[in-house]
Amino acid sequence: MKGARPTKDNLVTQQIVSPSVAKQNAPRVIALLNQKGGVGKTTSTANIGAAFAVMGLRTLVVDLDPQSNLSLHFGHEPQPDQPTVRDLFMNPDIAAADLVRAARPNLWFIPSDTELALVEGELALVANMQQILAERLAPVMPSFDVILLDCPPSLGVLTVNALTIADEVVVPTQAQYLALRGLEKLLETVLLVQRALNPKLKVAGVVLCMHESQSSHGKAVVEEMDGYFAKYRGSELPWQDAEVFRPAVRRNIKLAEAPSFGQTIFDYAPNCAGAADYRTLAETIRSRWKPQQLQENLAVAVGLASS
Ligand SMILES: Nc1ncnc2c1ncn2[C@@H]1O[C@H](COP(=O)(O)OP(=O)(O)OP(=O)(O)O)[C@@H](O)[C@H]1O
Ligand SMILES: [Mg+2]
Repeated sequence: MKGARPTKDNLVTQQIVSPSVAKQNAPRVIALLNQKGGVGKTTSTANIGAAFAVMGLRTLVVDLDPQSNLSLHFGHEPQPDQPTVRDLFMNPDIAAADLVRAARPNLWFIPSDTELALVEGELALVANMQQILAERLAPVMPSFDVILLDCPPSLGVLTVNALTIADEVVVPTQAQYLALRGLEKLLETVLLVQRALNPKLKVAGVVLCMHESQSSHGKAVVEEMDGYFAKYRGSELPWQDAEVFRPAVRRNIKLAEAPSFGQTIFDYAPNCAGAADYRTLAETIRSRWKPQQLQENLAVAVGLASS
């Protein structure tokens, strides 16, 4: 299908997932967040999600951005009567399972639409407005191993909903001085949500997108970010274990081209540098879950031994 725009035929494969195939587990929920626009959030969500799916993880990606760019990576064209993530927030008659659409083997997504922009204002009048996503997504969560949330470029109520349900935050960014300043503001928001709404919330780390490793400014900023996180090791703050993930995702034109063909990088150019970077990055992010899983397994084993 390389180079082909989505057709009616390949859209037929995007049927709604059946909750009857539900696994009984709690998925890892990752919010990809940066209030700065155009830094690589959606590209990272689509391609890390696709990489997780190829690794065998049942993966759901949720488009929380009214720009609705995420769906384009899966060849999904918005249709007027189709329910979207907006209904999750505003329409109690529509269940989350009605929104989940199949994209690839092991990969599902919930589309967005431009009217999601209205939700920010409408939610201001709703009680518990920060917890709506957590409540409405709960019935489908056990069907997945991992859920990725593509946040809009703001720290508004949609982003706060993402932070309220997330286990961890991944911050796509560029290695630029201003990005570093923005990171501090973002971490402040994470801390507020962690204290008020979601004690388990952690910052996993920063993904360097469109990276140019030869730039001396870039090198200096990466060094500063490394130093920044190192300073907080052992603190009680949600970013105490955060890191600047390696590899950085190199600037690669194939990553920009893939969505215009309705494809992830693994469909469009599986052997390019962008595919290699996102594949390794997904493995790195997943490898950081192991200590926690081991601890949980250990806790179960200790519980069994003492019972
Ligand atoms: N590594 C890369 N190499 C080349 N182009 C890239 C790379 N990563 C992202 N892009 C391009 O940069 C632009 C912005 O990326 P993307 O849409 O992922 O950012 P975003 O943070 O989601 O933006 P927004 O804040 O508007 O939602 C897109 O055109 C995308 O194709
Ligand atoms: Mg985006």
